[in-house]
Amino acid sequence: MKKNVKILTLLLVLVSALACNRDKNHPGYTFFPDMAYSTAYETYTTSPVFKDGFTMRLPAEGAIPRGFQPYPYKGKSFDDQVSAGLELKNPLVADAQILAEGKAQYEIFCISCHGAEGKGDGHLYKSKLFPVQPRSLVEPFVQNKPDGEIYHVITMGSISGLMGAHGSQVHPENRWKIIHYVRSLSK
Ligand code: HEC
Repeated sequence: MKKNVKILTLLLVLVSALACNRDKNHPGYTFFPDMAYSTAYETYTTSPVFKDGFTMRLPAEGAIPRGFQPYPYKGKSFDDQVSAGLELKNPLVADAQILAEGKAQYEIFCISCHGAEGKGDGHLYKSKLFPVQPRSLVEPFVQNKPDGEIYHVITMGSISGLMGAHGSQVHPENRWKIIHYVRSLSK
């Protein structure tokens, strides 16, 4: 009995050893090939299924990435800016952490033009790299605007186009944090 077990074990070891493939370019025996090799079309091949022959498809019209909120005000116009001011509310409460995060974001995206104290005297302007004086963010002209208008300016840029859009760079939540921080600058 013991002998049989020994022989069996030896056989098993031998068989497993034989299963190892020394030829690295050969993948060996495939169990269920229809699962290992997908029958789906490769991305860049032509497809007989679609009229235009493309395998890669555009997303359905109106589809948006997960977690993405479409911005409803499309233009840089005065009307859009005012509507954003009336309709958008800052969802965040200005506690110490939000202000600290807003400050960090401000220092990445705004300080170069608007300056450390928001007076419109940032490095890009003082070094004459940026030709026009950025607006002071601490004066009533900006401070009297509702949060939504400032949000619109960050997202779309200023109406005149002198300040560019930052919507693609600053995450929506961080725009609101920056606005809280800009408010705190005037205090
Ligand atoms: C490249 C320089 C530059 C950067 C960076 C910049 N701004 Fe501006 N910003 C300007 C200029 C110039 C103006 C004046 C624009 C005008 O009068 O049309 C302005 C105007 C504004 C205004 C007033 C808009 C209005 O209604 O007239 C606000 C608010 C503002 N910026 C906030 C910000 C914030 C917040 C950031 C950072 C996310 C930022 N800016 C980044 C240059 C800049």
